[in-house]
Amino acid sequence: MRPSFAEINLSSLEFNYLNIRKKVNRKIMAVVKADAYGHGVERIVKKLNLLGNKRPNYYAVAIPEEGIELRKLKVKQPVLIFEPISPQQAKLVFKYNLIPTVSSPQHLKIFEQTGKIEKPLRVHVKIDTGMNRIGVAYSDAFNFLINLSRDKNFITDGIYTHFATSDEKDKTFANLQLERFKNIIQQLKEAGVDYGLAHAANSGAILDMPEAYFDMVRPGISLYGYYPSLETSESIKLKPVMSLISFVNSVKRILPGESVSYGRKFTAENETTIIEVPFGYADGYRRNLTNKTFCLVKGKMYPQVGTITMDRVMFNAGNDIIKIGQKVILLGKTKTEKIDAWDWGNVLGTIPYEVTCGITKRVPRVYKD
Ligand SMILES: Cc1ncc(COP(=O)(O)O)c(C=O)c1O
Repeated sequence: MRPSFAEINLSSLEFNYLNIRKKVNRKIMAVVKADAYGHGVERIVKKLNLLGNKRPNYYAVAIPEEGIELRKLKVKQPVLIFEPISPQQAKLVFKYNLIPTVSSPQHLKIFEQTGKIEKPLRVHVKIDTGMNRIGVAYSDAFNFLINLSRDKNFITDGIYTHFATSDEKDKTFANLQLERFKNIIQQLKEAGVDYGLAHAANSGAILDMPEAYFDMVRPGISLYGYYPSLETSESIKLKPVMSLISFVNSVKRILPGESVSYGRKFTAENETTIIEVPFGYADGYRRNLTNKTFCLVKGKMYPQVGTITMDRVMFNAGNDIIKIGQKVILLGKTKTEKIDAWDWGNVLGTIPYEVTCGITKRVPRVYKD
């Protein structure tokens, strides 16, 4: 195996999941799209499903192919597909027993046109309460759900909405979305319509909006150990699940005035030792981190220097003696120091989601229980 790898700590995953579960005391739909945010869906789901009666009640993914992967892994729980299903993919929903998201009469027609509806198809209705991305507009949702409840081809297994700002300190807009969703639920209750499970809370709302828990919550990034922004509370203790580990591949001593890597973006002021580590932007160590991040070797931080290249990255070890083969932590922690996906995210103007999803396929995932 390649000695540069992502270490996935499954005990931390369990720690995060059980902490979330304890806090919400509701059903859980674990969001494992995008290969479990880059962590490797197979082992993530296997670990969560070992939790007996505490295991997730539902799983959610973005696209049918990801749902099929779960079925091939023998996942028995209901699997919700967030993205609208295309006509070409509609048959897969029946074949693999997936739950589609629907939000328009056209979506329903796609399933009817397959000719495969033998018993009512379970669906979840996505209600757009302000995200303005997908979903039936909240003002039309009640009528859509009434019509759906009369359609013998479908069963409304759930209704849901998604927050645009639940991870911001100012909850004004999130509360407006919440009120719109609650109003629809109230109307449905008054009309005696069975809407199945109501769910709304992503990680931001799980941390800070208990009123948004309803029947089920949908944690994604918090499962993997990160708060969704720097503005949420830390009302649930979380531990990052992914570390990135490599090793010192070569060591060079350079003289004052000598430069490192493409474009000579770093020039030594004093004689110094440069260590080279085989992990580059093709692995997800983004080039925009150049000269702006660190690594940890034997518990000490060393600054990254010189342009990050496709397959390798260099660090300035000063006058420390570092040997070839020494372990290098690119993301992770020691007893006293840590480098996490927020440290990269802050430099890159992004969030931990993009950092963990951005660790590419050629980086082996190594699982630690
Ligand atoms: C509809 C929906 N629900 C829940 C989540 C999970 O969100 P988070 O990762 O912020 O917990 C996502 C993620 O994008 C989503 O699209």
